[in-house]
Amino acid sequence: MNGIILLIYMVIIVGRGESFFVDITYVESAVAKGAVCLDGSAPAYHFDKGSGAGINNWLVHIEGGGWCNNATTCLARRNGRLGSSKQMAKQIAFSGIFSNKPQFNPDFYNWNRLKVRYCDGASFTGDVEAVDPATKLYYRGARVFVAVIEDLLAKGMKNAENAILSGCSAGGLTSILNCDRFKSLLPISTNVKCFADAGFFINAKDVSGAQHIEQFYNDVVTTHGSAKHLAQSCTSKMKPSLCFFPENMVQAIQTPIFVVNAAYDSWQIKNILAPGVADPHGLWHNCKTDIKKCSTTQLQTMQEYRLEFLKALSGLMSAKSKGYFINSCYAHCQTETQETWSTNISPMLNNKVTIAKAVGDWFYERSPFEKIDCPYPCDKTCHNRIFDPQDNSLA
Ligand SMILES: *[C@@H]1O[C@H](CO)[C@@H](O)[C@H](O)[C@H]1NC(C)=O
Repeated sequence: MNGIILLIYMVIIVGRGESFFVDITYVESAVAKGAVCLDGSAPAYHFDKGSGAGINNWLVHIEGGGWCNNATTCLARRNGRLGSSKQMAKQIAFSGIFSNKPQFNPDFYNWNRLKVRYCDGASFTGDVEAVDPATKLYYRGARVFVAVIEDLLAKGMKNAENAILSGCSAGGLTSILNCDRFKSLLPISTNVKCFADAGFFINAKDVSGAQHIEQFYNDVVTTHGSAKHLAQSCTSKMKPSLCFFPENMVQAIQTPIFVVNAAYDSWQIKNILAPGVADPHGLWHNCKTDIKKCSTTQLQTMQEYRLEFLKALSGLMSAKSKGYFINSCYAHCQTETQETWSTNISPMLNNKVTIAKAVGDWFYERSPFEKIDCPYPCDKTCHNRIFDPQDNSLA
């Protein structure tokens, strides 16, 4: 999308009242617990209070933003918004799953809604006591997670009737990896469920045949000391870093969980299937910016990726009270923007069911939702992503 179109689009969205700004809150009490961002600063979130019938319902949604896998990449991240609360915007726009209007967010608009800022670089799993004097990096994501939840309990979540841990991308992965931990931190009487948007990253080979993502996650887990905070049912059976992949631990999750993911997740295609290192001649470049520009062979490779994705997802089938919405779009994160969450032109499955409706029906047990789309390009409701060809960022 070019700048002017984006600007017009934003004016329309803001003008229609689809989003509003919410101030940042710093969790200063976390610092004494050593629960800090990569640079040692306090964790933070944006919080819009619930009202009416939603006053005791809590949506804790975790921000995404990739991972840092070694001291070099974590140092690069430390002085930005993904590593330091000092660099975060003081206000962010709430819409989609965060909307406070029933017409845009029918089931959660009056809940307490939080966006927890991502600032550790390991999906809130890290816990290293020592701080390297050379880099001054803190790998403390798992402590941050607990400290944020404790802060919210003190602010009223201890009386929660309903609670959801959700998130998108690396935050969606947090909601899978930390789902049972979240449940264990809440009162036994709270109805707790988890919901992951674009967080089901799979362990697939890249187009050169290398195990790129497996190596990358191995570095993340090693650097951040994440092993002891990953699911024990998994780490007792295989190398801890493999337990960073939902496919290897989701079977044992005890808390109800819902997965929303595009089968051709654009982050996964760009960074798992065809990362730059696996495509030195840039043959995938155009295809990654716009799925319409993929060659027949590339589309074939992506169809195989979809099948691998569905195979990886099969572990979820044995989990109890699960749900899933797997569409055939070229997309990544479909809950945080109004246009993909809940409008009459949003992505839909099963004859006009939006993501918002599928998740709401599942949460309130009005009806189950377990639906996998037919393969690309069958789905006409997709909002397929088109990336700026110059943009090589990972997020
Ligand atoms: C750190 O990770 C990046 C990204 O994977 C890689 O390019 C770089 O070589 C790594 N650096 C070290 C010192 O291992």
